[in-house]
Amino acid sequence: MTYSKIVGIGHYVPENIITNAYLESIMDTNDAWITERTGIKERRYFTYGKDTNASMAMEASKIAIERAGLTPKDIDFIVYATITPDYYFPGPGFILQREMGMEGIGVLDIRDQCSGFIYALSTADQFIKSGMYKNILVIGSELQSTFLNHSSEGRGVAVIFGDGAGAVVLQATNNESSRVLSTHLHADGNFAEDLYVKSPGSSRAKRFYDDLLENPSTGDVIMNGNLVFKHAVVRFPEVIREALNTNGLAPEDIDLLVPHQANLRISEYVRQQMGMSEDKVFNNIQKYGNTTAASIPIALCEAWESGRIKTGDLVCLAAFGSGFTWGSALIRW
Ligand code: UT7
Repeated sequence: MTYSKIVGIGHYVPENIITNAYLESIMDTNDAWITERTGIKERRYFTYGKDTNASMAMEASKIAIERAGLTPKDIDFIVYATITPDYYFPGPGFILQREMGMEGIGVLDIRDQCSGFIYALSTADQFIKSGMYKNILVIGSELQSTFLNHSSEGRGVAVIFGDGAGAVVLQATNNESSRVLSTHLHADGNFAEDLYVKSPGSSRAKRFYDDLLENPSTGDVIMNGNLVFKHAVVRFPEVIREALNTNGLAPEDIDLLVPHQANLRISEYVRQQMGMSEDKVFNNIQKYGNTTAASIPIALCEAWESGRIKTGDLVCLAAFGSGFTWGSALIRW
């Protein structure tokens, strides 16, 4: 039986640190509100001329591939999760493939927002289990700061999000005791407009550019924050339990839960619901904010680099976000 295993992991965050104090200086917000409601103290924004969605992913991928003991030529396929591509099309995976000299291999764009990395990992896992590919580069990368409305009107959204990228190399293995155990994917399109960006979508009466000039707010992120919060705190525990039940495991078997970094209050609520101690849940939203599809691979990478994940550990990834989408992955490291 063929399984998949994470054999290399890397991340990249831009050097430009945006503190809550800086946001206070440009909009009507304050450090106390942001800290209390979200846990975020700072986030990273890209530097124009240096960072792009694809370039950040490339930096993360180089590290992941090197740690896997491979070269870009060994990669058979790329699965790239993002909602903030460099171009509307084609996706940044094509740019990354070209720049890393991997021409010829397939590139798959995943657009599942905050659950994007779990959808990408699950997709790659199926390709490996079917025997189609041996080494897949799985990426989550977001350059979100250029989508944010930094006037006081946009404060409910702008303070939350940041830029960054993470990547893993998923490899075929026959080793039953160190592998991706299972992945679980869900969505409910009834809530599609509760967290969305309209532009540059095609559903409009006239050419999108003309419409956008007349209605610039269609380029803003629209978020029904309270509703997202209410659904997140239900779906996170549900999909973690689904992964545990599938494998005959219990919450106390989890060595480290790496949740999508949406809001420290959400992670804390989920931790309590699962009856887990603080040391079993990894959070770095304080430093990076919500980096959407990049948040799980960045957090997973920092957890691994700091020695929080060891061989044999049971690691659970879980996400909830726009769509609505939610998902989990259980990994025996
Ligand atoms: O990855 C998935 C993506 N998104 C999420 O997971 C988001 C989930 N939702 C949340 O995290 C929270 O709903 C937020 C952090 C977005 C908002 O927190 P909240 O406790 O739900 O606040 P609220 O939206 O109910 O707003 C409370 C007050 C309002 O003022 P009034 O009407 O009570 O006078 C807002 O105008 O806070 C005000 N407010 C702010 N004040 C200072 C909203 N944003 C800000 C801000 N600074 N940045």
